[in-house]
Amino acid sequence: MPERFPRAWLEELYSRAEIVRVVSAYTALRKNGRNYWGLCPFHHEKTPSFSVNPEHNLYYCFGCKAGGNVVQFVMEIEHIPFSEAVRQLAEKTGMTVPEMTYDPQAEERQRRSERIYSANREAAKYYHELLWSAQGKEALDYFHKRGLTDAVIRKFGLGASSTVRDGLYRHLMDQGYTEEEAIESGLCLKKETSVYDMFRGRAMFPIINLYGKVLGFGGRILEDGQPKYLNTADTMVFNKRLGVFAANFLRKTRTALKRILLVEGYMDVVSLMQYGIEGVVATLGTSLTAEQARFLKRFAPEVWIAYDGDDAGQHAIERALGIFEKEAVTTKVLFFPDNLDPDEFIRRKGVESFEKLRPLPEIEYRLMRTEQTLDMTTDDGRTAYAKAGASYLSKEKEPLDIERYAGFIAEKSGFSKEVILAQSGNALKSLNQNKPVKPAAAGFQPLQASPLYPEKALLSCLAMANLPEGTVTAEDFSPGPLKEFAQKLLSGEKPQQLMMDIEEPKSRQLISEALEISADTDPDKNLAAAQECLRMIRVERLQERISQLKKELQDPACSVENRSKHLNDIVGMNREIARLKNTANSKEASK
Ligand code: UTP
Ligand code: MN
Repeated sequence: MPERFPRAWLEELYSRAEIVRVVSAYTALRKNGRNYWGLCPFHHEKTPSFSVNPEHNLYYCFGCKAGGNVVQFVMEIEHIPFSEAVRQLAEKTGMTVPEMTYDPQAEERQRRSERIYSANREAAKYYHELLWSAQGKEALDYFHKRGLTDAVIRKFGLGASSTVRDGLYRHLMDQGYTEEEAIESGLCLKKETSVYDMFRGRAMFPIINLYGKVLGFGGRILEDGQPKYLNTADTMVFNKRLGVFAANFLRKTRTALKRILLVEGYMDVVSLMQYGIEGVVATLGTSLTAEQARFLKRFAPEVWIAYDGDDAGQHAIERALGIFEKEAVTTKVLFFPDNLDPDEFIRRKGVESFEKLRPLPEIEYRLMRTEQTLDMTTDDGRTAYAKAGASYLSKEKEPLDIERYAGFIAEKSGFSKEVILAQSGNALKSLNQNKPVKPAAAGFQPLQASPLYPEKALLSCLAMANLPEGTVTAEDFSPGPLKEFAQKLLSGEKPQQLMMDIEEPKSRQLISEALEISADTDPDKNLAAAQECLRMIRVERLQERISQLKKELQDPACSVENRSKHLNDIVGMNREIARLKNTANSKEASK
């Protein structure tokens, strides 16, 4: 349960906990300009692209785009929740954590949750012990038949649910739990006056969270029958859309994970981990959610999707790719031949073959799938392939990748590479726009070529908080996260605090990147920089308006009056653009 710290106290913490000192414990930083630079502690790299901004107390990595304030840094690097990170930082900076305000309702909810966790733990112990008894023989045989060792069965705390209708219920009563608790935890159900167990005669998989608390269970039927897996219904402590299976092992392996392996089934997780594969997790009987994607992102720089090789699995991969993309998670796909699932694959082909599988970058996976669904012997098929390929290509950022995949798509489809590049809108990007803004540090996306550059730069000017009032208004931004952030800055809030409130990862990236720009601006020249941004924004807006009018002019339905009015407007706007550009040039010249 998230605790509430007083906002004013938190704000003080955000500015007192010096991010340069905090980060220095994880990576060596060197001052360069007004910022500090180092190797990013969140991803592997050889040249520094991790930047720390001591003025705003924020960090941003130009490589993996991780960014945030000092508390977010500690949460992410240590994989700890907000309240824990706050406590650690408070201790380091010598601030006393204030007494929490007393909330009787929250207290009661907390108490009930604790009882559910405790009943779940009791149930897990009960199922696990039952597995080694006569009642659990069938389940144990099943696990053995699936190739599991006793060691891995113990490691996961697998179990067997009782064949007796209310075996667990009676056990919980003996242990002092109430009927209400047995039902609230989802372990038991009530029909009229009698209470009975939710899980009976199934092989049991406890679902345990990062902190070792048992959230619920998945239970597999032993013979053929439906449903194959039964999962705990949502309770106060369990939500299928939030949790992942085997999260409890992520904490222990956190130092070395270079990727998370996401599989479909509980059995896949247990089986791969038995073979020594680390960092394997599964969702809980539902397809991947944004919340789960966000959670997984905390543990490794990449997620590899290793779903079943069958059609259903392949469709689920496409869905998951979309979700990961939205959450800004780098994703690759492990593809298993012959409709195998990971469990079957590793058993048949062995751990070495498994480790030799090359994870496909998203674009390669999509190209492979597209090729499978089209008839590549026809012109139509090859054209459709080229179009789809170009649209995947438009999302690639590295010039080298663009070049390579453009060549690949060209070869497959029979079109020239230039045409593929043009279709993808990458023709320019791959040629001359990639002048890095900061040659000192490699691994950058060129900021000035990035979309919304003038608005981002304007936001960074605004964040410096030394502009005369009225220089910048919220209306200077187009609708979106930048504008919302600007509005809050204008109302006097601090960047560090605002950063904490941004939940959507893409927005957080965008804002972190934007605020990083201020490090290149001398505070004394901030006003001039802001004015320059405003000019660029105005020019862009005028240009947009002009192309809109030009489109209207092409419409045969456009009336004669409108035509001349539009033409007039265009002339006027072009003049205004020339004027704006001129002021910019003469300023440049007089510098
Ligand atoms: P699978 O049917 O692929 O599971 O479903 P599996 O692990 O390969 O099954 P076995 O035990 O090896 O035969 C993948 C996941 O989908 C959920 C479960 O989480 C399962 O692990 N599922 C499946 C359900 O929740 N209910 C079902 O009825 C079936
Ligand atoms: Mn499966």
